[in-house]
Amino acid sequence: MEAIEEDQSAKMDPPCSPSGCNPPEPPLSKNARKKLLKQQRYEAKKAEKKAQEKEQKKKDIERKRKEWEDTLASVTEEERAKLIESRRSLRKERMGKRSEEKEKKIERLNRAKDCGQKIIIDLEFSDLMTPSEIHSLVQQIMYCYAVNGRCPSPGHLWLTGCNGEMETQLQRLPGFDKWIIEKEHRSYIDALQDQKENLVYLTADSETVLDDLDLKKIYIIGGLVDRNRWKGITMKKAQEQGIQTAKLPIGSYLKMSSSQVLTVNQVLEILLKYIETRDWKASFFQVVPQRKRCEAECNSDHAVDGEENGDRDDEQESKKIKCGEVSSSNHTTL
Ligand SMILES: C[S@@+](CC[C@H](N)C(=O)[O-])C[C@H]1O[C@@H](n2cnc3c(N)ncnc32)[C@H](O)[C@@H]1O
Repeated sequence: MEAIEEDQSAKMDPPCSPSGCNPPEPPLSKNARKKLLKQQRYEAKKAEKKAQEKEQKKKDIERKRKEWEDTLASVTEEERAKLIESRRSLRKERMGKRSEEKEKKIERLNRAKDCGQKIIIDLEFSDLMTPSEIHSLVQQIMYCYAVNGRCPSPGHLWLTGCNGEMETQLQRLPGFDKWIIEKEHRSYIDALQDQKENLVYLTADSETVLDDLDLKKIYIIGGLVDRNRWKGITMKKAQEQGIQTAKLPIGSYLKMSSSQVLTVNQVLEILLKYIETRDWKASFFQVVPQRKRCEAECNSDHAVDGEENGDRDDEQESKKIKCGEVSSSNHTTL
């Protein structure tokens, strides 16, 4: 997922509440238009790369098939039977291992339903995203589910406000019906109204720093891919709803001169790593990709340009972020 620099000129408030009417797209500034063009070029390049990889994979499969056939053709009848049998048992063994892992994963995810950290992905923003942003969010959610399933202590994931285009695209994911996840059409604020005091909206715009995770709390991640076009929207939503907010303690571990807005999957991964390690620093460093850190400029210091949508190395050249580790924070904590 890729990182982009915050576009100050594109900052603006939505004309109405996120859960309310369907606001028009904000007009794009010259700067934002340039970024959009870059984004489109990037998407085209990405699609081309994907097609090349697909082609290469096809060739590899064909090559391996041919090698196998050649091997079989070059041996005696008896040796051929042995080779086929050994391949068959290897496959069987592999499949057995896979289904064992799958069973363990199901067990972990079911256990998380009872005692895992509750984490919501709020899907009420689909009206504010372009089709390609919605697609990107769906990919991020798929990634989130996969990462959660591999975790030794997975979270109990909720998708709330799962309607319309978001739901349609999620339904298209293979196996989505069987995902061990809470799928909720209602907003979290309705579905969990009896737990309103425990809801904590995670947002980079909060004054409150998340020092630790609390099993009683339910953390909400804004399901939004907006290249920070809708700056402050989750903070505003949480304030309007009267629920708590908190930001990740990035500033306590990484000093950055740019925005600390991360992607949905990065935030979830950081939370999951923290659940596993209880170490924020390790969690940030494991999740935020190495190449997103500014080594040349900071020497031993670290840089993260892990804003949302972060895989665009071509864009990164122009926006190296100066940063370094810091040792303490003086924020309000949650
Ligand atoms: C791509 S960001 C969306 C940015 C959006 N403009 C907003 O106002 O939240 C996706 C979500 O990840 C979470 N997030 C990203 N960076 C965060 C940070 N530094 N601290 C806490 N939550 C963060 C928030 O829940 C955010 O809504």
